[in-house]
Amino acid sequence: MYEQVSHSLLNDILIALEPQIKNENLRYFNIRLGANFYAIHSLFVLLYGDRADFKQQMHKLVETMTRQYIQRPSDLKTLDLAREKDHNWFLSQKWAGFALYCQEFAGDLEGLQGKLHYLQDLGVNMLHIMPILDCPKGKSDGGYAVRDFRKIYEKIGSLETLASLSENLKKRDILLALDVVVNHTSNEHEWAQKARLGEKKFQDYYFVFDDRDIPDMYEESMPEVFPENAPGNFTWDFEMQKWVMTVFHDYQWDLNYKNPDVLIEMIDIILFWANHGADIIRLDAVAFLWKKIGSTCQNEREAHLILQLMKDCCQVTAPGVLFIAEAIVAPIEIIKYFGEDAINAKECEMAYNATLMALLWEAVATKKATLLNKGIKSIPNKLERATWLNYIRCHDDIGLGFDDNDIRLAGYEPKEHRRFLIDYYTGKRTDSDASGMAFGLNGKTGDARIAGSLASLAGLETALKNNDLEAIDKSTKTILLLHSVIMSFGGMPLIYYSDAIGTLNDITYMDDELKLHDSRWIHRPKMNWEKAELRNQPGTVENRIFSGLKKMIAVRKEIPAFADHNNRDLIDVENPHLFVFSRFISINLQSRVLVVCNFDISPQALDIGTLRRLGFFQLGSVQDLYSGESFSTLDESLLIPPLSFYWIQT
Ligand code: GLC
Repeated sequence: MYEQVSHSLLNDILIALEPQIKNENLRYFNIRLGANFYAIHSLFVLLYGDRADFKQQMHKLVETMTRQYIQRPSDLKTLDLAREKDHNWFLSQKWAGFALYCQEFAGDLEGLQGKLHYLQDLGVNMLHIMPILDCPKGKSDGGYAVRDFRKIYEKIGSLETLASLSENLKKRDILLALDVVVNHTSNEHEWAQKARLGEKKFQDYYFVFDDRDIPDMYEESMPEVFPENAPGNFTWDFEMQKWVMTVFHDYQWDLNYKNPDVLIEMIDIILFWANHGADIIRLDAVAFLWKKIGSTCQNEREAHLILQLMKDCCQVTAPGVLFIAEAIVAPIEIIKYFGEDAINAKECEMAYNATLMALLWEAVATKKATLLNKGIKSIPNKLERATWLNYIRCHDDIGLGFDDNDIRLAGYEPKEHRRFLIDYYTGKRTDSDASGMAFGLNGKTGDARIAGSLASLAGLETALKNNDLEAIDKSTKTILLLHSVIMSFGGMPLIYYSDAIGTLNDITYMDDELKLHDSRWIHRPKMNWEKAELRNQPGTVENRIFSGLKKMIAVRKEIPAFADHNNRDLIDVENPHLFVFSRFISINLQSRVLVVCNFDISPQALDIGTLRRLGFFQLGSVQDLYSGESFSTLDESLLIPPLSFYWIQT
C-alpha cells in the first residue's frame, strides 16, 4: 500500500544509502520493499515509535536488508522468483519432512551427505537439521543455546560443508530447514560476554537487573518452563553481579526485543541463513519473544508484531523462504502464529501442530477418538496460504496442552484425565504397555509432560522385552496408524529421524552428567545404522515400519486431495473408537478420500448407512488407496481391523 509518511521516509533512506549499495541491481528488491514498507514502518512505529533514534533505526533495518539482498546468491534469487509465481508450492501433498540431529544421525554434515539416500529411500523431501550452530559444550540444550549465530559447531562442519550439502539437496529436490533460535542466546555468546564485562550497550540486549525487585514482579505471573531442572525465570550472574532473565535454562539468556538493535541483529541472522541455502527457517520458542510484567510473558501481542516484521523483511529480501513457528502453546494461540489475515501468512507459513500431536497420544491411551474429535473441532481453520507441520514425536517432550473444555466435553475431568495420561505413558498403570518418562514435573502444580521414543511409548519396548508377538504386532500397527493420520490430515508430515525404524528409548544419557537431568535425551538417540539395515529384511519390525511409512509417503504424493487447502471435513460417527474425516478437492468430488482410523485393539464397525446419506459409498465397492484392497459397500457396516486405517476413495 502507498502511504505518504512511510514512503517519504523510505525515499530519504534510499537516497542516504552508500553509493556502492545504490549501484547494485535492486530492481526486484525495491519493488518488494515498496510494497512492504508501509507495513514494516507501521510495525516499527508500534514497537519503537517513541524512541528518539527511530529514523536511524529504520535506516539501519533497510540497510541490513539491502546488504543481505546484495549478498543473496543468484540461484536463490531465481528460486525466489519461481516460488513467487507458484505461491502455493508448499501446500502440495508432495512434501514430506524429516527432522534429525546431524551428529546423532550422521556424525557431521559430510556424513549426512552420505546418508541422503536413506531419506530418498523413505521418500521424504524436506530435511530439518536441528541446530548446528556453535554452542558451549554441555550447556547447549541440544543446540538451542547458541554461542555464535554465524558459525557452525566445528564438530558438525563449516559454512563450506553446509554449502555443499545444500547444493546436493537442491539437486535432489529436497528442502532444507534450519533453526534460528530467536528468543535467547547462550551466556557465552559475545553479547552476553560483553554484558558481563559491564558494557551497557549489551546489557540492554537482555533483561538485566541490579536486584530482585523487578524479577519478583515478573515471577508473580510467569510460569516455569523447566521447573525440575531450571526453576525460576531469573539467574544471578556472579560476574556481572546482576540478575538476568533466563526463562529456559540458567545459561540461556532471553533477548530483549524492546531494544530495536536486537530485532535488527536477529533479522540479519535470519537473512544470513536464508542466504546460506535454508528454504525454511524454524523460529524457536516464538511464543516467548515479548515479556511484560503481569503477564505469562507468552503469546503477547508484541511477539506477533515482531514475527510480522521478521516475515515482512524476509519477504522483501528472500521471499522464497518460509518460516516455521515453534510455539507449543494452547490450541487457540498456536493458530495465531500464522498471523491474523484473510489469506496470507503474515507471520509464519508453517506451525507445529502440537494440538494434533497431543490428541493422537490421548487417542492411543484411551483407544478412543472422542477427545481427538472434539479437540480438532476447536482448532480454527488455518489461513489459506499457511500449513501445519504434523508430527507425532520430535526432540521435545509431549505436553498435554488440550483445552480443558474439550476434555470435559469428551466426558473426562481435566486434572484426572491428564494424570491418567501421564501415568499411562510412564509405566504406572497395569493396563499400559507404554514405557516413557515424566518430564518437567512441577512439584507446585503437579503438572508433568512426557518423554520417550515413539516406539517405546507405543508399547514396542515392552512387547520386545516379553517377546510377545501379538504385542509387537499391536505396537507396530499403532506406529503406522499414528503416521497414517499425519500423512493424510492436511499439512506437511514430519517424521522424527529414529522413528522410521522403531527405535526404542535410549537410556545411555543417564551416564552423562550434563544430560542426566533432562529426560528428553531418552528420545534423542544415535542413529543405529545396523538396525536401519534391517529395514530391507522382510519379517523384521524395522522392515514393517519403514516399508509402511515409505508406502504411505509414496501414496500420499499421488493423492491431490491430501494437499492442504482447508479441504477436510471431520465426520461424526457413532463409534467412539473411530476417527473419520474426508479430504477433497472442491472442483472434483471424484477425488474425495475418506480417512478412517480405528484406535481400538478390537475391530470396530463403521456405519455405512450414515456415510451413504452424506454422499459417500454411492457405488457397490470402494478401494483403500493404501493397501489397494477393495471392499463391498452393500452391507450396512464396514469392519475396520484393530489399530488400522483406510484411505478410501469414494
Ligand atoms: C524449543 C526447543 C527446545 C528447547 C527450547 C529452548 O522449544 O524445541 O528443545 O529446549 O526451545 O531453546
